[in-house]
Amino acid sequence: MKDFIAGLPKCELHLHIEGTLEPELKFELAARNGIELPYASVAEMRAAYTFDSLSSFLTIYYEGMKVLRTEPDFYDLAMAYLRKAAEQNVRYAEIFFDPQAHTSRGVPFDVVIRGLRRALMDAHAQLGVRAQLIMCFLRDFQAEYAMATLLESLPYKEWIAGVGLDSDERGNPPRKFAAVYERARQEGYLLTMHCDVDQDDAVEHIRQAIEEIGVDRIDHGVNILEDQRLVEVVLARGMGLTCCPISNGYVTDSMKAEGIRKLMDLGVRVTINSDDPAYFDGYVQENLVALHDALQLTREELAQLQRNAFEITWLPRHLKDAYL
Ligand code: HPA
Ligand code: ZN
Repeated sequence: MKDFIAGLPKCELHLHIEGTLEPELKFELAARNGIELPYASVAEMRAAYTFDSLSSFLTIYYEGMKVLRTEPDFYDLAMAYLRKAAEQNVRYAEIFFDPQAHTSRGVPFDVVIRGLRRALMDAHAQLGVRAQLIMCFLRDFQAEYAMATLLESLPYKEWIAGVGLDSDERGNPPRKFAAVYERARQEGYLLTMHCDVDQDDAVEHIRQAIEEIGVDRIDHGVNILEDQRLVEVVLARGMGLTCCPISNGYVTDSMKAEGIRKLMDLGVRVTINSDDPAYFDGYVQENLVALHDALQLTREELAQLQRNAFEITWLPRHLKDAYL
């Protein structure tokens, strides 16, 4: 079955590019930029990846990305991921980036997006992997900063498929960003948003995302199972969920495989993704294998997960159809 999974043409829709920063590249970029890291080796760095919640993960995630400074750094980061994606037969990826995690420490927006964009173009030409960018706002910063970031992105609108919302969910409900999302919609961006697994008020956040913000899809969102009415709304709208089993296992008590199974059985467009693979030790292939090990999925079910993903991509219809 591993070979079958390896051979499946895949689609990745929930991947933070900063979460693909492997320790080896972290050391390389630190050396390039004259930054001292508090670890003597890759092994020592990996050993410090101890987290058991979203917030303890985020501390390490933001600390790690400080080595990213220049346009070539962002290029190398994205190119390394896209090479890995090509190896795993990922044909298409929608990639989150966190501009405020960089602008807040003095790295200009255009440095970030130009490096990422150049890698996406080269990867398409050289590796045959297509990808688009999704700009995420950091929900633990003020809504005004998100709005300023949205305005700063407008000259690069053609390079960005849509917007998302990530970082620490506690006390930062979807509603906080209602005006930002309204403006993003007016500007033509598609809309997604993290509703992380087992957070406080998880179901209420999902409700706000769907009913008050009107998102096109939801990142994670497994707690929707606790509200049958919302499940019916998602089914009626054909909305997708981007689930991340290995990530769930790190930041909650389990991969939530049974919940994912239930969503699949209900006919929700569930997709399987890797979130922050350099930190959670698993790219999309490993996530599919882990889910299969937990649920004994059939070939048809594994293929259906990929059809779900291609169907809910933010590609024009004719490009979707070419993958389906
Ligand atoms: N959740 C919220 N914010 C994030 C994540 C996540 O899984 N990964 C990177 N930023
Ligand atoms: Zn995520």
